[in-house]
Order: sequence, then C-alpha cells, then structure tokens
Amino acid sequence: MYKIAVLPGDGIGIEIVPEAIKALQAISERFGHEFQFTEALIGGAAYDAVGHPLPESTLSTCRESDAVLLGAIGGPKWESLPVHLRPEVGALLPLRKELGLYANLRPCMLFPSLIQASTLKEEVITGVDLMVIRELTGGLYFGEKSREATADGGQKATDILSYSTYEIERIVRFAYETARKRRHKLCSVDKANVIETSRLWRETVTELAKEYPDVETSYMYVDNCSMQLIRNPRQFDVIVTENMFGDILTDEASMLTGSIGMLPSASIGGQVGVYEPSHGSAPDIAGQSKANPLATILSAAMMLRYAFSLEEEARTIELAVLKVLEEDYRTPDLMETGKKLVNTVQMGDLIKERILNS
Ligand code: IPM
Ligand code: MG
Repeated sequence: MYKIAVLPGDGIGIEIVPEAIKALQAISERFGHEFQFTEALIGGAAYDAVGHPLPESTLSTCRESDAVLLGAIGGPKWESLPVHLRPEVGALLPLRKELGLYANLRPCMLFPSLIQASTLKEEVITGVDLMVIRELTGGLYFGEKSREATADGGQKATDILSYSTYEIERIVRFAYETARKRRHKLCSVDKANVIETSRLWRETVTELAKEYPDVETSYMYVDNCSMQLIRNPRQFDVIVTENMFGDILTDEASMLTGSIGMLPSASIGGQVGVYEPSHGSAPDIAGQSKANPLATILSAAMMLRYAFSLEEEARTIELAVLKVLEEDYRTPDLMETGKKLVNTVQMGDLIKERILNS
C-alpha cells in the first residue's frame, strides 16, 4: 500500500488535485495497487482554518506518507499578511526545507498535438524534450533577509545569496545521474561572470565533470540561456541551475510545452517527495472549472515513477494525456478553433477513462 498525503491548497489547487486523484484511482483499479489518500491543509486555506499556513499536523502527515501530492497555494486574500504567515514564505518554502527537497525536476516535453497552442513557432519547438533540475533549498530564497533605515529617510533591503560546495555538489551529481538516463548532455547555468556563488558553482561542476566523462558538459550564463531556450530549445537535454534562476527559466520553458498548465514537477532528495504542478493557484480563474488539470495529473505520473518506481503505471498516465490531446480535447488555456473545449472535471474524466480502457 502507498500512502499519499494530499494538499490541495488554494485557488485552482482544490479543483485540479481531485482530478489527479481520479487518475491515481484509475491506475489502482487497473494495476491492482492500493493508494491511501490523507488530506491536509496548507497555504491560505490552512491559515484561515487554524491560523498558520503550514500547521505542524500537515508536516507530520507528509512525513508519515510515501509521497505528497500538492495543488497550489496563495492568492490575493493572503498577500497582506505578515511575511512569515503568507502561503509562499510561510508554507511552501518551509515545506521544501523541512522535507529536504533539494532537487526540483521540471520536465519540458512537447505533446505533438499542442504545437499550435504554443506562442512559439512550430519549427522551433518540434521535438523539445528537456529537463530542468533546479536547486530548491538554497540560494536567495533561503538566505538571511533584512531591512534597515538609511540616513536619507529611505530603507535598505538585503537578501543574502550563498551556496556551499556541498549544496552544489549534491544537486549537480543528481543532474549528472539524470543525464546518464537520458541523452548524456548536461548544461550548467550560472552567472559566473558576475556573481561569486556562480563562480563556485562553475568550479564545482568543472571538478565533477571529470567523474562523468560519458556526459557532455556545457556551461551557459543565465541571460544567454533564457535566450537560447526560445531560439533553439532542442539543444538542451538536462539543465542544472540554482534556485532562483531555475524558478525563472522554468516559467519561460513551460511555453515550449504549449501552456504552463502542462508543466509538472517533482521535488525530491529527502525521505518523502512533493509532486505538484509548476504553476500557481491562478486566482483569476479559480472556482470556474477552467483550470487545466494536466500538469497535476502529470505530476502524479512523476510520483508513480520517482516515489514508487512504477514506470509502466507512470507511462500509462502519460499515454492517456497524449491520447486525450490527440482526440482534440482542450481546456481553455490550450483552446484553438476547431478543438473540443472541456472543463477541469471533464478533462479529468477523459484521462480516467483512457487509463482504464487502453
Ligand atoms: C515555483 C513557484 C514558487 C517558487 C513560489 C510560489 C514561491 O513560483 O514553484 O516555481 O518561486 O519557487
Ligand atoms: Mg515559479
């Protein structure tokens, strides 16, 4: 039996997570696995209910599970709370830190039937298949922060950016191992021409590269990488980078897949991994059954693959997504003329149906 903590969170989180559970239940029915789901509160929903965005009980539910399925957190309602109580800083970052999730995997694969949904040209994105590995528990996100008054009556704000050799080594090693299972290419992204942590990052990669002669290592500055991602994304196999660069580059890279609603993610490295879509809680479309549940459903597939080593089951979910898209079903974010518009629940039902009957 696999124990799964379910944290729907806020906004569209509460709409997309049930669709991923449906997909997992269909897998359980078809392959005879038993999944036990335990729901817990996180984000604004938790703040409203118990006064804190990451209650201790939620953390222990996660720790006692084999994997965590997370929706999305945050929204305008909680943006004016003191920083430590806001869903992002008060829940998501501590959850990553507490569970030791230093490696964030964001695979960018273009489903061929979505070529037209992207804002980018067909000849640029055809065949895109890359994996961004983002360091997730270090860097600016977790560095010391402070404010002080300045003599001119203004303020000075500081965020410390630091990385240790240890932190760099473990994520880069992880990226090399991933590259070995793919096309044996690793691109390390930094800003070593300006930033000291990036210089240590590059030196560390250069050392590790000697241990992976079978993987072709390249180095790229982050500004160049952001350009190369839309100029010629097929040049990339695995990209490894620090926390903030990875945050920015993966939003950009999501457009290679047609919509940010298609980008799943896995955050791993500790005892229990968190599987969640790369997008946010989308307050503007929340409650209208307009959200695309596919990134969450694909995150559930990543859970099967990485947490439970159920490769065939993971592929079954991915193939169901492929099929439903080939049959022209589209949520609003992917909609084009001539396609069949479906809502969040209908999309989830279609995926479930294809998992059961394929
Ligand atoms: C992401 C998100 C988060 C991040 C936010 C919600 C704090 O953008 O997972 O990419 O910046 O890491
Ligand atoms: Mg982000």
